[in-house]
Amino acid sequence: MNIKSVCCIGAGYVGGPTMAIIAKYCPDIQVNVVDINPERISQWNERDLSDLPVYEPGLKEIVEKCRGKNLNFSTNMEKYIAEADLIFISVNTPTKTRGIGSGQAIDLKYVEASSREISNYARGHTIVVEKSTLPVKTAQTIKAILDAAVKGEKNLEKKKTFSVLSNPEFLAEGTAINDLENPDRVLIGGDDKEAINDLVNIYSRWIEKEKVLTTDLWSSELSKLISNAFLAQRISSINTISALCEATGAKIKDVSLAVGMDRRIGKYFLNSGPGFGGSCFKKDISNLVYISNHYGLFEVAEYWQKVLDINYWQQRRFVELIVKTMFGTISSKTIAILGFSFKANTNDTRESPAIYICRKLIEEGAFLKIYDPKVKYSQMQKDLLFNDQRIGEEKWVYSNSIYETFENVDSAVFLTEWEEFESLNWQEISIKMRQPSWVFDTRSIVNMEEVKKSGINIWQVGYGN
Ligand code: UDX
Ligand code: UDX
Repeated sequence: MNIKSVCCIGAGYVGGPTMAIIAKYCPDIQVNVVDINPERISQWNERDLSDLPVYEPGLKEIVEKCRGKNLNFSTNMEKYIAEADLIFISVNTPTKTRGIGSGQAIDLKYVEASSREISNYARGHTIVVEKSTLPVKTAQTIKAILDAAVKGEKNLEKKKTFSVLSNPEFLAEGTAINDLENPDRVLIGGDDKEAINDLVNIYSRWIEKEKVLTTDLWSSELSKLISNAFLAQRISSINTISALCEATGAKIKDVSLAVGMDRRIGKYFLNSGPGFGGSCFKKDISNLVYISNHYGLFEVAEYWQKVLDINYWQQRRFVELIVKTMFGTISSKTIAILGFSFKANTNDTRESPAIYICRKLIEEGAFLKIYDPKVKYSQMQKDLLFNDQRIGEEKWVYSNSIYETFENVDSAVFLTEWEEFESLNWQEISIKMRQPSWVFDTRSIVNMEEVKKSGINIWQVGYGN
């Protein structure tokens, strides 16, 4: 099939950047991104490109170039589903919060809703591509819904037909544009060779064909889950070692470097920190635990559960360490929080370690001044809800300026590895902070020597005293 029109359901962190790249490299294809949330769509259509709903280095330049040409953001699902030759489902897939599998299984309600929209509005032959991370065998659900529409069709002349493919996204936030332009691999699962070929033809506009891997549907779905699980497992592994380094006096960065230089291990994903956040890792591992239990593989489930447990443990131990170091109490003390997003170069705070750590510090009685270069005040407000109650300004304030954040604080806790934190003027900061003052650097990014020289006490993850 000659693909002329692509539709993506879900204008989020995955759908938005991915479609922008397709629009950039396929000027002959019309790319329509639809979303049920009108506010999201109007943000994507903002004149001021610094107000796009997703912050990603390099994204706004592409949106500027393609929007209004072959890249369109709309709430009109009916129209753009009907026009599409190929539809990506890129809606969010949260963990179930109630019922069977609550807290572990993935809630497929949005995927199901999207499949129903497609079955209602699609015309002719349509390729449906699942992009969201999904439990293994979800394509079957999508297929079942679409097949029901085909069977129910009375007008045989206009009969709808569907092919379902799995094409998981491996982009990481903060580097999404580069990951999309230069991926390690593109994975396509399915059994319809022609449909696979049509999707391969889109990617091959900018990616070498050798990098495109095709498998059956289930293997593709499972590979995505396992990729995330392996990445998260490395982080939990190095985080356990950070504690061992602190206890023994070894230096975590040297250990990571030495270990990572073994090509069989590799150097990436060996940075210890406050634990992994983001929308994927926790959800996907929980799902892996759920699936393993479902198939009676209890040891497998336990093994992966430990990766999650270590993640919580690392955050808990940081809070305990901060309280203990500050003479056993932080009640009535003021703490600067540097960084609130789950990693640098994104405004996303989903599952950010900062949320748990800030809440705990507030519970312990501290007053927080929170600074992040990209996260907005309104987002922090949403994240710091206690039992649906907003924590009032008496518990924390939003800081607009990095240096002002240090004014009259007893300690400063670094939670995100923003580049600007690497070269701070510690002499200037030491004058602003109350004495005695501490820096807790959970990402080991600040210049330890400079901090020490300024007379501030410093603790860094993975470094003993
Ligand atoms: C993605 C993936 O799709 C998900 O599987 C992965 O695990 C996390 O990343 P993401 O793009 O980050 O999701 O999610 P989000 O930024 O929340 O965007 C999803 C969008 O889908 C939202 O804008 C939401 O309004 C929209 N949506 C949701 C629909 O348009 N229709 C629905 O029925 C549900
Ligand atoms: C991840 C996967 O990398 C990506 O392939 C998948 O498509 C979606 O999930 P993302 O969550 O956007 O991407 O970011 P990632 O760079 O993987 O970081 C996840 C978390 O791990 C962050 O909180 C980050 O700070 C943390 N991390 C990462 C570490 O603590 N140490 C590391 O060495 C790397």
